[in-house]
Amino acid sequence: GLLLVMVGLLFGLTGCGRADMSVLDPAGPVAKMELSVIMTSVYIMTGVFIVAMAILVYVLIRFRRRKGQDLPPKQVEGNNWMELTWTIIPLILMGILAVPTVSTAFALDQKQTGPNTMNVTVKASQFWWQFEYPDLGIVTAQALHIPVGTKVNLKLETTDVMHSFWVPRLAGKIDLVPGRVNTMWFEASQPGEYQGKCAEYCGPSHGVMDFVVIADTPQQFQAWVQKMKNPQVQPTSAQAAEGEKLFAQNCATCHAIAGTNFKGVLGPDLTGFADRPKVAGVLDNNSTDVEKWISDPVAIKPGTKMPKLPLNQQQVSALSAFLEGLK
Ligand code: CUA
Repeated sequence: GLLLVMVGLLFGLTGCGRADMSVLDPAGPVAKMELSVIMTSVYIMTGVFIVAMAILVYVLIRFRRRKGQDLPPKQVEGNNWMELTWTIIPLILMGILAVPTVSTAFALDQKQTGPNTMNVTVKASQFWWQFEYPDLGIVTAQALHIPVGTKVNLKLETTDVMHSFWVPRLAGKIDLVPGRVNTMWFEASQPGEYQGKCAEYCGPSHGVMDFVVIADTPQQFQAWVQKMKNPQVQPTSAQAAEGEKLFAQNCATCHAIAGTNFKGVLGPDLTGFADRPKVAGVLDNNSTDVEKWISDPVAIKPGTKMPKLPLNQQQVSALSAFLEGLK
């Protein structure tokens, strides 16, 4: 029964309900190393459980009260041989577990150098993620693009409370702690989209502090970098031009868009907004959901610092048209 509960918890807590969020399906070397530590510990725990249960069952049967037996049975105090055994065996098992755990922890912290490496700074805020590419001069939010087969060195910081970076199929969890910079690296072996989540309770919208890692082919990644450096920012319609004006008045204090005069840093950078798979990390990126988000952000992410603006439906649609033109 207990074993079933343990296995159930293992699957439940590793997010097995979602195929794209299973630590049991690693898509890169770091996730593989982490899974190997998890499995080592599961094998040891299973072995201990089976042996302990076998001894328990043996003792229950072997030393049961038999007919005609008087109580109490012979009292035994102290047995050096047994006490040594049940001290040394757990010590050995903990040693077996400690070696891969500690060596993996240090290996994940090690900055990767040489060809096929890159640097990304992750900044977490309630309740969104910023990704900076210091060597490329690019800033983005909510969707982290990386080239496949490249070791990505992460520096992780928070602008407010503790958060935790977790992409179950690739890497993590690693905490983002106020006042310090944590480091780790990870790599995606196959192209694809990998769901990420905040894994440290950080406020009312912790549960929807989602992001995604997009592993591109090297060509796709270069194309994305070029687009982010020379984004399309000109409004493509009269409605979008109206939206740009409203953006300047209402949004530019907090949001930046590369290639424009909008340089706010309090909220997510919106360069290339239309190409992101999600809005605010959790909504679909289409005009209906963008309008839903702008109309009432707090309804979708309680505790968000993005205010509900006094805009009418026509103005919200104009803003959405402007944002959906940012490619
Ligand atoms: Cu950020 Cu939980």
